Amino acid sequence: MLKATRICFTVRRSLCSYKSKEHDIISKIIRVDHAGELAADRIYAAQMAVLGKTSVGPVIQHMWDQEKHHLKTFEELIPRYRVRPTAMLPIWDVVSYALGAGTALLGTEAAMACTVAVEECITEHYNEQIRTLVALNPEKYKHLLEVISKIRDEEMEHHNTGLEHDAEKTPFYSLIKSTIIAGSKSAIWISERI
Ligand SMILES: [Fe+2]
Ligand SMILES: [Fe+2]
Repeated sequence: MLKATRICFTVRRSLCSYKSKEHDIISKIIRVDHAGELAADRIYAAQMAVLGKTSVGPVIQHMWDQEKHHLKTFEELIPRYRVRPTAMLPIWDVVSYALGAGTALLGTEAAMACTVAVEECITEHYNEQIRTLVALNPEKYKHLLEVISKIRDEEMEHHNTGLEHDAEKTPFYSLIKSTIIAGSKSAIWISERI
């Protein structure tokens, strides 16, 4: 009898620990995506403030409108999955706006280079998350997989829009792109944890 109780307790403890690990994975995914979409919203807001009245204004506005929708989606997922948002949000807000404004002030091509870098990084990141969710439980996380896949496709479109609008013609394109990607990867790492 005592042995049976011990086995039952051990199984329950392992089950709890598995559930808590799974919740940690989902929390990290939603926390970092929410932060990333806030950053994207701020980048495009800044680009619109600088370049809104130029020929690329409508192109940036279209991408910004989609980012607003991405952000709203994750704002709804935060309470739904009982996730704590990252404490870094106020910092990312300022840094992202500065990045969007800084590149836009260098010109349209630099703004588009920023778009290519950020969207390439986020597309790869969403693909990693899709692989994680498929490995975890594709049935249970069907809705989340659909949400992330749809947003990933739109980020890919933004990336291609940047290339179509001469991102690669900006001086020091490779340097700008690799610097922004390195910064974005660091921000992802921090947002998952803090
Ligand atoms: Fe987005
Ligand atoms: Fe995007």
